[in-house]
Amino acid sequence: MSKFSLQGRTALVTGGARGCGLAFARGLAEAGANIAIFDVIPPDEAFASIEKDCSVRTAYYKLVALTILFYTIANPRRVDVSSEESLQAGFKQFQSDFNNALDICVPCAGINRHLPFLEFTYKDHQDLLSINVLGLYFTAQLAAKQMIANGTKHGSIVLVASMASHIAVRSQLCSAYCGTKGAVRSMCPAIAKELAQYNIRVNSVSPGYVRTEMTASFPHLLEGWKSEAMNGRIAEPEDIMGACVFLASDASAYMTGQDIIVDGGVTRW
Ligand SMILES: NC(=O)c1ccc[n+]([C@@H]2O[C@H](COP(=O)([O-])OP(=O)(O)OC[C@H]3O[C@@H](n4cnc5c(N)ncnc54)[C@H](O)[C@@H]3O)[C@@H](O)[C@H]2O)c1
Repeated sequence: MSKFSLQGRTALVTGGARGCGLAFARGLAEAGANIAIFDVIPPDEAFASIEKDCSVRTAYYKLVALTILFYTIANPRRVDVSSEESLQAGFKQFQSDFNNALDICVPCAGINRHLPFLEFTYKDHQDLLSINVLGLYFTAQLAAKQMIANGTKHGSIVLVASMASHIAVRSQLCSAYCGTKGAVRSMCPAIAKELAQYNIRVNSVSPGYVRTEMTASFPHLLEGWKSEAMNGRIAEPEDIMGACVFLASDASAYMTGQDIIVDGGVTRW
């Protein structure tokens, strides 16, 4: 199992405060990686135990608040991937704190909107694009620059796409979301091709229905989702974790530009 080990490596996970991102952070830490997360919310309690349980270093990145004459002009609890300024500030802090180390990046922050195509507004679509596409793209770009600068021999970027980039999700009204995840999957091989010369691999993982805050707003759809999966259940975030650890590790050293679908078979029948 030595090729699965991430001992001594450093990973950055966006959207790592809860849900799939938190599970990815946990999985990478269990394999030995130090973990930093960027998010717009404080992390779940479970994040605090990772450091001790896995004997790794963890950090949650937030912007330093700038207080001028009693007015605070930066939210001190967030790195917002949809803001170029916020993302760059987050990377700057992370670089100085971790001495420029970075081997693994998992851009996972994402949002969904359940709205009919005919009612989707420009603003709603723009919000999705700025987080799911631009936020992910520039997280990957800044991470790649850091990996090139530090000369890692184990660079791996694991983009979080979705089953929704492969199919029209039967039960949901999420045309814009499907488009953003399609963008993630399409950019993956193109970025992989450009980063291969630096020994950085780029793959994506496409989860199916996962029980997280994102899907919690659809309790009435749960039963239907179970029947869409061959295995008759929806995924827990831990069900997706293994694919992320595999793609992050040398066990997948010959894989780049690919997508792994972890969906209980939904897209296969
Ligand atoms: N839950 C599912 O069924 C499912 C299926 C396929 C793909 N995904 C993808 O997995 C990823 C994680 O989703 P999840 O289900 O864990 O949802 P979630 O809502 O539980 O987690 C998303 C995380 O992203 C963070 N985030 C949102 N906007 C951000 C921003 N601008 N900057 C930084 N962080 C931000 C949130 O605060 C949250 O911690 C998303 O990209 C989602 O599209 C989820």
